[in-house]
Amino acid sequence: MSLPFGTQLPHLITSIPGPQSQAWIDRLALRECPAITARRARRAQSLGTANDDPIVWQEAKGANVRDVDGNVFIDLTAGFGVAAVGHRNDKVVEAMKRQSDILLHAMGDAFADPKRIELMEKLAEISGLDRAILGCSGSDAVEAAIKTARMATDRDKILAFDNSYHGLAFGPLSASDYKSEMFRGPFKGQLGSHVEHATFNGEYPKDLTEFAAILIEPIQGRGGVRPADKAWLRELIQTAHRDECVVIFDEIYTGCGRTGRWFAFQHPDLADAQPDLVCIGKAMAGGFPISACLGTAKVMDAWGASKGESIHTQTFLGNPTGSAMALAALCEIERLQPELEAKSRWLQSEFNRRGYTVRGEGFLWGIQLADTLTLSRKLMKLGYIILPAGPNCEVLALTAPYTITREQLVGFLDALDELQ
Ligand SMILES: Cc1ncc(COP(=O)(O)O)c(C=O)c1O
Repeated sequence: MSLPFGTQLPHLITSIPGPQSQAWIDRLALRECPAITARRARRAQSLGTANDDPIVWQEAKGANVRDVDGNVFIDLTAGFGVAAVGHRNDKVVEAMKRQSDILLHAMGDAFADPKRIELMEKLAEISGLDRAILGCSGSDAVEAAIKTARMATDRDKILAFDNSYHGLAFGPLSASDYKSEMFRGPFKGQLGSHVEHATFNGEYPKDLTEFAAILIEPIQGRGGVRPADKAWLRELIQTAHRDECVVIFDEIYTGCGRTGRWFAFQHPDLADAQPDLVCIGKAMAGGFPISACLGTAKVMDAWGASKGESIHTQTFLGNPTGSAMALAALCEIERLQPELEAKSRWLQSEFNRRGYTVRGEGFLWGIQLADTLTLSRKLMKLGYIILPAGPNCEVLALTAPYTITREQLVGFLDALDELQ
């Protein structure tokens, strides 16, 4: 008897990409800005290499994705970390349906709704951070944090770190450094000059009194799953606080259970060095675009009360559907936590047993291998969706849904072994 969709092993019925995917990609090519989706068939034609056009997703559940050709894949990315509680998680979908029967949209800063308030209460409970600014994307959360630091300190400068990725809107792009030439290069003239970059896990200015904030990912995600050394990070936070500089953790990747605890900042080694602002997004609502900048009352209240017109808001702020889904996703993360811990330990023993060098924590792993770009394309053709990460593609980033089964992980590791 076959397993339910969501827990299945890959099942491919066409070559990859299949004919339907290719037909959709041809239509996409006519309509989408060419910079968005990598369409490699055209490049392949000129280079004489394999056709690596992407597949087109039709349906997803748990850790499985079905493409428009009917091929079943295992998604080891959880859709950029979003589907942490599994694609189309039952509880998240139920919450969305229930909410859509009563209220799809309220009015941001003008008129709230109960779900948005319950969500912020839940976020305060799990993070210990009493205030929040909601947003629609990771970039929104980082922008809210940068503005909050400005309001709290009357200073402009931000200290960020090399190889960091904070999003591509202008605020976060100014602070990002990952593949800087590519992402920032064309926009240099439009980016602020208020950001300085120091070395991640290395030297930074010993006097931070001129900085509004330090902005850091506790584990660099897109930059290659590079964890900050805890002792280094502790000292950095303490130096920042000594100089009355706000500490912003970008936990858009690491938050919502990804490291095995609610947030990476709750690691015991950081007990006496805590951030003032924490950005979350991605996994927060299991598939709805919603994010938050969480903060201490002390720092967040520096904004002062609204004077009638909010100076920081957006049309979809605190969307009721997203808030309802986030509440459900957070409950699911709580429920899955014990299982995740055991699965993470087992996964680490499997990495060891098979001789892989990895870095990360919980359910966020970078598998260090050569030429992971080619490897990820080969894995795709075997039914495993996984992305390379790092400026030189030095790791395969394993950010699977927490619901992935051990059998699915074994399938992936066996496929990887075979490609070595
Ligand atoms: C650490 C981190 N910060 C910010 C972002 C940007 O989030 P978004 O793409 O939702 O704007 C990302 C996205 O990958 C991220 O990994």
